[in-house]
Amino acid sequence: MVIAPEEQWWRKSTVYQVYPKSFKDTSGNGTGDIKGLIGKLDYLQELGIDIVWLQPIYVSPQNDNGYDVADYRRIDPNFGTMEDFEELMKELKKRGMHLMTDIVVNHSSTEHQWFQEAKKSKENPYRNYYIWRDPAPDGGVPNNWQSKFGGSAWQFEETTGQYFLTLFDKTQADLNWEYEKVRQEVADLMIFWAEKGVKGFRMDVINLISKDQNFPDDDGSIAPGDGRKFYTDGSRVHEYIKELYAKVFGPYNLVTVGEMSSTTLEHCIRYSNPQEKEFSMTFNFHHLKVDYKNGQKWELKPYDFEELKGLFSKWQTGMQRAGGWNALFWNNHDQPRALSRFANDGEYRSESAKMLATTLHGLQGTPYVYQGEEIGMPNPDWHDISEFNDIESTNMYQILQERGLTSVEALAVIRERSRDNSRTPMQWDDTENAGFTNGKPWLKLDGRYREINIQREQANADSILSHYKKLIQLRKQESVITEGLFKRLDNQHPEVFAYARITDAETLIVVSNFSSEQTAFTFAEDFWITRAEGRDTELLIGNTRETPSWGKTLELMPYASYMWIIR
Ligand code: GLC
Repeated sequence: MVIAPEEQWWRKSTVYQVYPKSFKDTSGNGTGDIKGLIGKLDYLQELGIDIVWLQPIYVSPQNDNGYDVADYRRIDPNFGTMEDFEELMKELKKRGMHLMTDIVVNHSSTEHQWFQEAKKSKENPYRNYYIWRDPAPDGGVPNNWQSKFGGSAWQFEETTGQYFLTLFDKTQADLNWEYEKVRQEVADLMIFWAEKGVKGFRMDVINLISKDQNFPDDDGSIAPGDGRKFYTDGSRVHEYIKELYAKVFGPYNLVTVGEMSSTTLEHCIRYSNPQEKEFSMTFNFHHLKVDYKNGQKWELKPYDFEELKGLFSKWQTGMQRAGGWNALFWNNHDQPRALSRFANDGEYRSESAKMLATTLHGLQGTPYVYQGEEIGMPNPDWHDISEFNDIESTNMYQILQERGLTSVEALAVIRERSRDNSRTPMQWDDTENAGFTNGKPWLKLDGRYREINIQREQANADSILSHYKKLIQLRKQESVITEGLFKRLDNQHPEVFAYARITDAETLIVVSNFSSEQTAFTFAEDFWITRAEGRDTELLIGNTRETPSWGKTLELMPYASYMWIIR
């Protein structure tokens, strides 16, 4: 398949995700702001970033930290002004960088003027912007769908005596995409931002927008039985996205990524194959559920390494075969830190962080780096439930106790799984509050910030930060990273993930030890003979002081990880 080069530029890019609330505060109010981001653009440019994904900065009551939008066209005063935003655009442009904004249109805040109108009467012109249903015959909720943040997905509205659908918080009302006017509003608001020079969009839980219009009860036959099978990748979702492509993505030549909740490979191929004219790429979360016991986020188990590798392989191979494109990531603002989850955030913190990075950055797709990941920020040291802010965490803390856990047991689960793990303020230096704010930070900082911070990383040539910088450059230099066919090599090794990326001329090899034990890895005979033996091999990047000796069998120190190229 031939894709025009101007459409391909982002295939060699790395996106940096900024959680503005926790990035850098310049006003002293304890929450980050746009000016703070502007002041750090040199840092991001130096890292080699092309695209900055900025999370919601629109007017919002902040019940879900901006994912509850009350006005899609105005900047929340907590983050600054429209002038600040325009300044940001200018400063990015100067540096040849692009902005990707976050668009949250599966739902709006109930404070949005559309909802304020809609709730007034059944005849209101905005009524149909949302999803209303009569109570069940017994006066209860219309069906048994559950909110992703716990409890029923329906909220009763007194004035008109109907329920409205909220798949997330009760203040996040689902928009009715069946209604053509809603779709036009969405296209218009995206054009508003594209006209300001925004080059990309990340679309929040966008595969949930097409709901089964019969709103059936979930019979529980497919886990988790919370109703998701009736609105995930629904029957009209591709049609709606194609419509946005025709109106916005295509005409403005945008880079777009869809956040896909509980999706399938088949759908993601359709969402991201350029011929379909939908998105540039997709996020899926299957690899980040390998430590969910019985598929339940709030039940702990050690992660299943074989499953993790299997999922990476399945999505690499499957998307590659069918012309799809993956957004690659370990971390985001909804996930605990991968470093603490899949590797070692203590004794081997530096090796582990580099190992995870190399493993991911050798894959096909567009990598996303979430703030703090590039310096190996771990999950923070939580002591008490009062330290948490996230609405999902505080809801679940109650629900887990209702399910019979003690408060101590519930806290243990929240500590591991809370989204706040990744939301603590960015650690810039070793001064008070890690240089994030002069005021009182909105969320506590990790106690280790004097040891783990950017200033310190910058002073060390061998840092995690310089490792990331190098990986980001390698993707630009080595076309095999963008193009090579994925082949898994480790043959179910209990500690090692190894794969190759193959073109006619080159073979890229990535070998990572995911354990704190020394181990050895041997290439399969046929692979060794056909692709490696007797050829020139260059180590592109590694994470051990001593250069490993190359050969059919490799000795690997704890968390050792290497990328070689054979030309
Ligand atoms: C997405 C966002 C998350 C938010 C949810 C509802 O998953 O990443 O932060 O809470 O959608 O908008």
